[in-house]
Amino acid sequence: MKKIFVTRLIPDRGLALLKKQGYEVVVNPEDRVLRREELIMFLEGKNYDAVLCLLTDKIDKDIFAAAGSQVKIFANYAVGFDNIDLAAARERNVLITNTPDVLNETVAEHTFALMLAIAHRIAEADQFMRDGKYKGWGPMLLLGADVSHSTLGIVGLGRIGALVAKHAVKGFDMRVLYYDVKRNEDFEKEFNAEFRPNLDDLLHEADFVSIHVPLLPSTKHLMNADTLAKMKKTAYLINTSRGPVIDEHALEQALEKGIIGGAAIDVFENEPLMDLGFKNLDKIIVTPHIASATEETRQKMGEVAARNIIAALEGQTPPNLVVMK
Ligand code: DGY
Repeated sequence: MKKIFVTRLIPDRGLALLKKQGYEVVVNPEDRVLRREELIMFLEGKNYDAVLCLLTDKIDKDIFAAAGSQVKIFANYAVGFDNIDLAAARERNVLITNTPDVLNETVAEHTFALMLAIAHRIAEADQFMRDGKYKGWGPMLLLGADVSHSTLGIVGLGRIGALVAKHAVKGFDMRVLYYDVKRNEDFEKEFNAEFRPNLDDLLHEADFVSIHVPLLPSTKHLMNADTLAKMKKTAYLINTSRGPVIDEHALEQALEKGIIGGAAIDVFENEPLMDLGFKNLDKIIVTPHIASATEETRQKMGEVAARNIIAALEGQTPPNLVVMK
């Protein structure tokens, strides 16, 4: 019987698919991230055929070594796979897969939730009400900024970035600029979007800058003291991609000094920690890496991860390969 290790409990549909296939499924009994030594202990000598891992697991050569030569695939339960050492996977002939597409709509929705919330000062307003400070309607009370008809700068025109752009144009009549390593003329035509080959140009013009790049050596701290200073004083920065794309300390400084108007971020440089300075700033909204966290999407991510494992163990090519043998 083939054996699968799941590093932390995920919603049931993916697990059910694996069991239906006749596999033995062992799930980390604790609902928390396993420490590195614990993960090694769970894997060592157990001869698992596959591991379903999460973005919170750092998978490197020691983890592959602990899993042993029986293991064919590490199926990441995330679209991002910056937690996995791909070169080490290739060296050990381990397949790596991810869970793209099923979360696009949910993440795009969360991006808009953040954008609207920071522009309309929703968190501040909610706190204001709870504190009993509302004494009656006022023309100057908690003034925010309009999203409609403003300019959105998309940094990284992947599937999620493109969907955010679509909502921006169709739902809010926004002007869309985008920066990417690749130009996409079809997208430009469809959404009347404008390509900016230079990030600085986009930052100068955008009222909202939304980050959708993967974490790579070239995107680490893409938003830093210099690039933040290129944004408009009134502009907002939104991040639902990966925390280290923003230099968090530089962001705190930029908010404190009024270099930008505000930020709304779902991901952090050293999760689960966040820059402590954020706690005391009104101009930032923070959510705990939940952009894909709807019941249905998290189920679908489990199903995609399970199908990748089943394909690999049944001798087929998994649909979402990021590293081939
Ligand atoms: C991902 O999939 O990479 C997200 O960060 C979590 O869903």
